[in-house]
Amino acid sequence: MKNRWWRKILPAVAVWFYTSRFLTGCGPFGDVVLEEDGLEVPSEEEEDLIVVGFSQIGSESVWRTANSASIQNALSRENGFFLEFNNARQKQENQIKAIRGFISQRVDYIVFSPVTEDGWETVLQEAKDAGIPVILVDRKVVVEDESLYTTWIGSDAEEEGVNAGIWLEEYLAKTGREGESINIVVLQGTPGASIQLGRTTGFESVAEKHSNWRILEQKSADFTNAKGEEVMAQFIRKYQDIDVVISQNDDMTFGALKALEANGITTGVNGDVIVISFDAVREALELVAQGIINVDIECNPEQGEYIAAIIRKLENGEPVEKENIVDEQIFTPENVEQYLDTRTY
Ligand code: AHR
Repeated sequence: MKNRWWRKILPAVAVWFYTSRFLTGCGPFGDVVLEEDGLEVPSEEEEDLIVVGFSQIGSESVWRTANSASIQNALSRENGFFLEFNNARQKQENQIKAIRGFISQRVDYIVFSPVTEDGWETVLQEAKDAGIPVILVDRKVVVEDESLYTTWIGSDAEEEGVNAGIWLEEYLAKTGREGESINIVVLQGTPGASIQLGRTTGFESVAEKHSNWRILEQKSADFTNAKGEEVMAQFIRKYQDIDVVISQNDDMTFGALKALEANGITTGVNGDVIVISFDAVREALELVAQGIINVDIECNPEQGEYIAAIIRKLENGEPVEKENIVDEQIFTPENVEQYLDTRTY
């Protein structure tokens, strides 16, 4: 067990935090909110808990809410952790401020899900200089020096995109349409996010093998339901003959389905347009079962236990893999029924 000497000074840090907040109107870490209810410090009895500072991207999707819940459940006090949860509200600057706050607090581990791939070098170097291991979760960063983070846990986004392409290939062959010209529109996630880039590259790598597939347009709808509806409505106005909608998450799919329905366009197994979605949250799986969404490529948000297991290994001085890919599968009307009852999110 590490000597967590700095815990002794945490109460003083807390007083400093609240005093400066009172005197200046904002916290010593700028306007960042470290937790919804303010900075918490472990009490004396909690001294042996492992302190983890976690910066979540935001709460843009059902998937994200499930991911936050999984991490909060796994890194609970009962499991030996003290979790500082930060919601960055989709802003990289908020994540950077939160990470700096965690460094000042001298947490044991920093965990974060980077909203975009780029722009992390400086703050990760600061964490490394402070000797705090950084665990990336869900999304990746691009840095020259990979020793700036300890490990990453998440989905193979490129493989998810490839799986979407292969599913479409097989579906078109099965329905006798492999020779037809196929017009595709893509609702993309947050620009510059590793998951968006991976899904795009993966799907494109399959699409480029088919000269009859035409990607009419790819546009970001930022992983949200409202923007999914808005961007889909734009696509419908612009293109007369859409055969396939690829939506890089379920929330955008829900929005897109509203726009399609409002324009009298049917979807799915017996519809006008093939719909391929990502995430596989319960509501979307129900639409797969009803044949309204053709296929849902899973992105597994239940990453909390993976993080807890990795931290325990690090605490015991055991080596960990640099990349840890979570288990995922593909849901179609043929296999989805058996999973509906157990889906909790
Ligand atoms: O990074 C994971 C993606 O982010 C999920 O597909 C999406 O729903 C979330 O907002």
